[in-house]
Amino acid sequence: MPDVINPATEDVIATVPSTSLEETDDAIARAHAAWPAWRSVAPGDRANLLRRFSDVVRDHVEELAQLEVANAGHTIGNARWEANNVANVLAYYAGAPERLFGKQIPVPGGVDMTFQEPIGVVGIIVPWNFPMPIAGWGFAPALAAGCTVVLKPAEVTPLTAIRLRELALEAGIPEGVFTVLPGKGSVVGQRFVDHPLVRKVVFTGSTEVGQGIMAGAAKQVKRVTLELGGKSANIVFADSDLEKAAATAPYGVFDNAGQDCCARSRILVERSVFDRFMGMFETAVKGVRVEDPRLETSEMGPLITRSHHETVASFVPDESQVAFRGECPTGPGFWYPPTVLAPVAPTDRTFQEEIFGPVVVVTPFDDEADAIRLANDSDYGLSGSIWTRDIGRALRVARGVETGALSVNSHSSVRYWTPFGGFKKSGLGRELGPDAPDAFTETKNVFISTED
Ligand code: TAP
Repeated sequence: MPDVINPATEDVIATVPSTSLEETDDAIARAHAAWPAWRSVAPGDRANLLRRFSDVVRDHVEELAQLEVANAGHTIGNARWEANNVANVLAYYAGAPERLFGKQIPVPGGVDMTFQEPIGVVGIIVPWNFPMPIAGWGFAPALAAGCTVVLKPAEVTPLTAIRLRELALEAGIPEGVFTVLPGKGSVVGQRFVDHPLVRKVVFTGSTEVGQGIMAGAAKQVKRVTLELGGKSANIVFADSDLEKAAATAPYGVFDNAGQDCCARSRILVERSVFDRFMGMFETAVKGVRVEDPRLETSEMGPLITRSHHETVASFVPDESQVAFRGECPTGPGFWYPPTVLAPVAPTDRTFQEEIFGPVVVVTPFDDEADAIRLANDSDYGLSGSIWTRDIGRALRVARGVETGALSVNSHSSVRYWTPFGGFKKSGLGRELGPDAPDAFTETKNVFISTED
């Protein structure tokens, strides 16, 4: 039974049994058996059940948030946002069952209409970095579309998902419709890929594992949505509000200790303002409060595990490239200070590879074309930011950067009612936004002859 460890204290806070292969198969069979009844629930009734699930989650926001602080080391402010996000996403997709529209298409000799048919059992595989929101982005639209769900949380962060499943039952979601299976990716997750009754896999995690899932799913032409890694650029032009760009840049990359697929982990700064930006950026980085995540003032907590700490540290083997660093606690916990590497060449490993920790590289650029070229010099394309006061430039650069979710003069790229997902090796398909339930359906076309 694997121990669940608090990354801020290294204390064991729970032990959670791993689901076996046989238990996974049983759960998939139960999800399949529950599907015909769930898809037949009248749209308004399914909507009401999801609304009730949302309300129950909302009533437990504080409990869920405290659980995530203890399990994942998230700051209490972030963890409350994450629990509320699950409630919001459920409430938003509670509006979907009554809006799963088909089309009526003009044809000669009859009537043609389409139906959005639920796809069946959906397997959702969740990483450890945002256990609650990433789970909700999958299960809420899937349930709304009339699918049943088996969900595997990351082995190191199972607690909130287990609790969400209990809350679903409390809200009246029928047994077998939403099941949480804590355990290993190589066992439970892989079984979602291999089991023929799982009709779609939604995977969020590393690009490497995602590629294996896509290859495995290909054998059954199984549907996949993949949300993978990122190495997003924060592009700062000389004509921007440089003070604001510098003051906010740490929060664009060090939020959740940099363990964020959207982290703006490459800062590209126009050469003419590079030194001025770095001066203000240093002040901002040193002001980031890295402390006990239970404190209301905490802005950054620890890394998730000791082994992940080692991986992050391996990207900074010596102090040679460190421009400056913030502070972090010493003693127990997997703490790593906010770290700025500059100036970093685009060929450097730290510019190209996802570090997934509080390490950012800063690189100068010469002009707009150079900024776009550098931003696109990556296998990834998930998010990014553009800082400029020139609206034309903002739009030109936004259209030029090959990435899925951009923000101008801001670092926010996730709103549950707008689409989210990546270009290139950052993924396949989109989550969130008004169209997410469609990703859990197949389009069926029916022609009815009206001829005698
Ligand atoms: P992974 O190691 O890829 O793990 C993600 C999940 O996949 C875990 O639940 C893991 O289970 C499971 N898994 C591992 N091997 C598997 C296999 N062979 N078959 C099926 N499932 C398997 O990623 P991670 O290190 O936890 O998460 C960090 C990565 O996620 C980063 O690259 C980050 O960018 C990415 N991420 C992307 C997004 C979006 S939205 N694009 C959001 C968050 C994170 P275990 O519990 O056994 O590890």
